[in-house]
Amino acid sequence: GVAISSLLADTGLVTYDPGFMNTANCRSEITYIDGDAGILRYRGYPIEQLAASSNYLEVSYLLAKGELPSKAEFEAFETRVLRHTHVHEDFRRLISSFPRTAHPMAIISSAVSALPGFYPEVFAVAGEDEEELATVLLLAKMPTIVAYVLRHTQGQRMLDVDPENGFVDDFLRLALHQVRGEQFGPEVVAAMDKLLVLHADHEQNCSTATVRSVGSAHTNLFLSVSAGINALSGPLHGGANEAVLTMLEEIRDDHGDAKSFVAKVKDKSSGARLMGFGHRVYKNYDPRAAIVKEAADSALEALGARDELLDIAMGLEEIALSDDYFVSRKLYPNVDFYTGLIYRAMGFPTSMFTPLFAVGRMPGWIAQWREMMHDPTTKIARPRQVYTGPGERDFVSLDAR
Ligand code: ACO
Repeated sequence: GVAISSLLADTGLVTYDPGFMNTANCRSEITYIDGDAGILRYRGYPIEQLAASSNYLEVSYLLAKGELPSKAEFEAFETRVLRHTHVHEDFRRLISSFPRTAHPMAIISSAVSALPGFYPEVFAVAGEDEEELATVLLLAKMPTIVAYVLRHTQGQRMLDVDPENGFVDDFLRLALHQVRGEQFGPEVVAAMDKLLVLHADHEQNCSTATVRSVGSAHTNLFLSVSAGINALSGPLHGGANEAVLTMLEEIRDDHGDAKSFVAKVKDKSSGARLMGFGHRVYKNYDPRAAIVKEAADSALEALGARDELLDIAMGLEEIALSDDYFVSRKLYPNVDFYTGLIYRAMGFPTSMFTPLFAVGRMPGWIAQWREMMHDPTTKIARPRQVYTGPGERDFVSLDAR
């Protein structure tokens, strides 16, 4: 590798690889994907096993530290995170100062950027202790921020955190003003937890590559993650779960006519895509989508919320999977295709779907940033370009143009 790259540099030769389809920017021990076989593992553990038996905080620990925690380590970690879920009163005011009509992702990105202003001691993440604290603060405060942003945009009160409830329970209480055992049961908490686990990392996706790229300038963890949140907001990335729901509603309003929607997608000139379908690396069924599809069925039943949009989604999938356009391009449902339906049944508005993805992806962003900072081969991200502009020409003054 070193010999080839110095050869390229010496000869002035660069590779032109839009979207880094074939260029690795790092080595990583965190997540393994085999897109052709539909395999996803965190630190070697298959996603199916983690989704079935682990939980979000345990997976966060696993991703950041490389190994599953012992019982004592897990309890200490959980207690530490729960001790930090509250946010400062001024921080709540920062969130409330945004117009209620603001897109939640805009507020969340600003709020995460503002966090180091409230915790200057972690701004310069200088050593292991600061890195641990920054990790705990981000994991702890992200769900509270997301819940408060939701309450604010809905014109409702921000409740105080209650660590006694447990991590995911309390998040649902803060976000939805609903209490376990009253409005929802343990299945719903489990479904939320599972969705967070499924989103926890996905190697060098657009937002994670952004976190690494920004962090490669030795940028503070909070500000690097905030850049990742901005990347996630795009409709081709985290914004897709929201776009899927909009698409399903559009089909429902068109008398549930999935066939003509598929025909429109196949006509490239329409510019329409089947949202929640296709993936840069999965050229097979996204293993997360299979788990979410199952979870959607049971969570919707537990919530007593049989949703006609689920039927439309399943119908679309069936049509697409037997249509040569999708088959030949290896386009299958991705993780986002069914997640929105569960969030909607829980009572989250559509604009909160991408923020929920951001809560889920937080452990991955943190782990990847930490891995990058400790890898001695890391270099500041600075891609080359192929210049296609004009050759040298003389400046013409404004009067003469
Ligand atoms: N609907 C219809 N056609 C599609 C779709 C789709 N969802 N996705 C890809 N295609 C077609 C393209 O038009 C292209 O066709 P062509 O070969 O005739 O030109 C071919 O499939 C390859 O597509 P690319 O855009 O080159 O694939 P790429 O790897 O660049 O894009 C992406 C992947 C962005 C995910 C794409 O599939 C897409 O836009 N999907 C819809 C949005 C979505 O669901 N995003 C979520 C991604 S997952 C995540 O962030 C968790």
